[in-house]
Amino acid sequence: MPNSRKPDTWLITNCSEILTLRGPAPRRGRALAAPGILHDGALLIREGRIAAIGPRRRVERLPESRRARKLDLHGRVVLPGFVDSHTHLIHACSRAAEYEQRISGATYEQIARAGGGIINSVRKLRASSPASLHSRALAHLAQFAGHGTTTLEAKSGYGLDWPSERKILVALRELERLQPLEIVRTFLGAHIVPPEFRGRTRGNKSADAYVDLICRQWLPRVAAENLAEFCDVFCDRGAFTVEQSRKILTAARACGLGLRLHAEQLARTGAARLAVEMHAASADHLEKLTGTDIRALARSDVTCTMLPGCCFHLGIAQYGPARRLIDAGAILALATDFNPGTSPTLSMPMILSLACTQMRMTPAEAIAAATINAAYSLRRHDRIGSLEVGKFADLAVFDVADYREIPYYFGVNYCAMTLKRGRIIYSRG
Ligand code: NIG
Ligand code: FE
Repeated sequence: MPNSRKPDTWLITNCSEILTLRGPAPRRGRALAAPGILHDGALLIREGRIAAIGPRRRVERLPESRRARKLDLHGRVVLPGFVDSHTHLIHACSRAAEYEQRISGATYEQIARAGGGIINSVRKLRASSPASLHSRALAHLAQFAGHGTTTLEAKSGYGLDWPSERKILVALRELERLQPLEIVRTFLGAHIVPPEFRGRTRGNKSADAYVDLICRQWLPRVAAENLAEFCDVFCDRGAFTVEQSRKILTAARACGLGLRLHAEQLARTGAARLAVEMHAASADHLEKLTGTDIRALARSDVTCTMLPGCCFHLGIAQYGPARRLIDAGAILALATDFNPGTSPTLSMPMILSLACTQMRMTPAEAIAAATINAAYSLRRHDRIGSLEVGKFADLAVFDVADYREIPYYFGVNYCAMTLKRGRIIYSRG
């Protein structure tokens, strides 16, 4: 099996469809709908990378293929492993009680104002040991792999004091060594103003003092210890203002971090325009965009990351304007936003189903958004996100004969096998 210690040469053959996603990245407009399908294709993997890909007859005839070990997929569909570009992987426990409160009529923001929400998760995380966070995250990472994800971004943001924020980022770094998925770390110290800074509007305990602390002390430490590659800010009603967010992102950029933003989820605040102004790698959520915002994003290089799991879980009818963004020419990506408050799912196939039925994306568009464009938003499109010679052999194999069945079957997991850098990291049964 390819999960032997030393990755060697493998021929993956008899695939009904291989979705290559080959070609220029990122994809905009019509290009999003062209997954570069190979029918009856094969792949040759050498040392964890793709050495050849093409029609089965041609690849099988290569001298190296004849010597390679064979993996017959019996007509299954192969695509690049999903790149989940927005998760809050590390959290201490679920918030099922809040879920029930919302079903009874309380809103997400009402629960947050009453001391629940993110603060609830912060209290639990601060009290958790690294060991308990590790074992919970490891179980979740195995589930990510079991749903076809091979790379994920993961944020801090449930610590909100330096030792706890650091605890999350260090745990993420250690988890990367303990299991096969690649984890891209993002510092989200500006998730919400912690209770210790909420009392007064002025002075050293105000929200602005917290912003200063992040800018002057925490960000330089994040960079010096190489704890994260990106900095994110929750720029929204009840979290951070556009002005505060600009300050934090400016400081983050000065420290050499890439920029991401939680933008326009609860209210239209101007966060998306800030993402454009700051040349952020990604602006995420975007449910409350205006027409002008859409045009500005479409002209920019900011990836618009839609998180339909949030609308589904919060029971919000207004999903993000994915269709309008695509048609305007924006770079669109999809992610789970795996977190205990708004989107407790780690299933990218479920996100594809929501993107298709609720946001009118085609299955091909949804898959491109969940692979190559998500890889672009993490600045890894030269290594992952498509199946091309030289790229890592990160693959998801689905037990279907037509790729459209991946989103079509919802609420069931048809992922049969996942490979990371040529090694099988998940195989059903
Ligand atoms: O992406 N919006 C802010 N952050 C998360 C929710 C976090 C939580 O409720 O715990 C999100 O939806
Ligand atoms: Fe989020």
